[in-house]
Amino acid sequence: MLPFGQFPGRRMRRMRRMRRDEFSRRLMRENVLTAQDLIYPLFVLDGENRSEAVGSMPGVERMSLDRLLPVAEECVELGIPALALFPVIDAGLKSAGAEEAANPEGLVPRVVAALKARFPELGVITDVALDPYTSHGQDGLVDASGYVMNDETVSMLVRQALVHAGAGADVVAPSDMMDGRVAAIRQALEGAGHVHTRILAYAAKYASSFYGPFRDAVGSAANLGKGDKSTYQMDPANSDEALWEVGMDLQEGADMIMVKPGMPYLDVIRRVKDAFGAPTYAYQVSGEYAMLKAAAQNGWLDERACVLEALLAFKRAGADGVLTYFARDAARWLRS
Ligand code: PBG
Repeated sequence: MLPFGQFPGRRMRRMRRMRRDEFSRRLMRENVLTAQDLIYPLFVLDGENRSEAVGSMPGVERMSLDRLLPVAEECVELGIPALALFPVIDAGLKSAGAEEAANPEGLVPRVVAALKARFPELGVITDVALDPYTSHGQDGLVDASGYVMNDETVSMLVRQALVHAGAGADVVAPSDMMDGRVAAIRQALEGAGHVHTRILAYAAKYASSFYGPFRDAVGSAANLGKGDKSTYQMDPANSDEALWEVGMDLQEGADMIMVKPGMPYLDVIRRVKDAFGAPTYAYQVSGEYAMLKAAAQNGWLDERACVLEALLAFKRAGADGVLTYFARDAARWLRS
């Protein structure tokens, strides 16, 4: 890279010159984090005037719609472009067939419709996967041996996505990792006239242990028990496979793609962005939130500085945006 033959030597090449003052540090800054890079994941409950703390995610609450509306309003004020909704489904509504996932009067469609009516400019993203609805906590329908069946699951995901789009979701986000689901959902959306509904595909989603606190939050952890998701989510050892997955999801009609988890997978984000140049998002998942929060609560890390550094690192790795439970805090910090 450097013309070493004419290298001016230690005295003339002082890298620290540009770092000396804030003005020149600003001039050479390659990446900037802003509120518009943030997507805020929220856990929603049925009922009214309800909120519950999530033990493994200090500062995060599951909320009923009435409590969610002021949060959404603050997101609009802060310039956060979109929310991602995750439902907490009452145990009595869970079943082996996850029928509740396709109920047009279900929790998610009701919340989506209310949010879009109040805040039309706020993007609403819904999760397309069956785990909040299944009695066994898997993302799909299982056969007698417990294996998650692909094509049967995809049919259900299509019904779920149509219900979300019908309620006004701007973006449907399949997080299930079944094969062929993006194509099936895209075709069904087009067929139903939902030509503007974007698909954010969880394209490179790894079978990660960092999802633990999320499974507590949506109440799927106990149902899942010792079951794991490695017959459909990706092996953390792989990154060529991530490119393959992303390429297929884009070909099948995804508008945006995601790499998940975030911080341990920055190399995957970079490869994906370089290979496709598509709108690319990282999910700083529940376990990453829990780690940062726990260290901050112990006084071991400076929360604000470390969170903003971690979020900026996603931008540097090539992400166009980040789903993060810190979205609201980060947007407030960025403003002050
Ligand atoms: C469900 C889903 C999961 C997350 C988002 N959607 C959990 C899982 O796959 O088990 C995890 C998010 C997080 O950990 O913050 N399909």
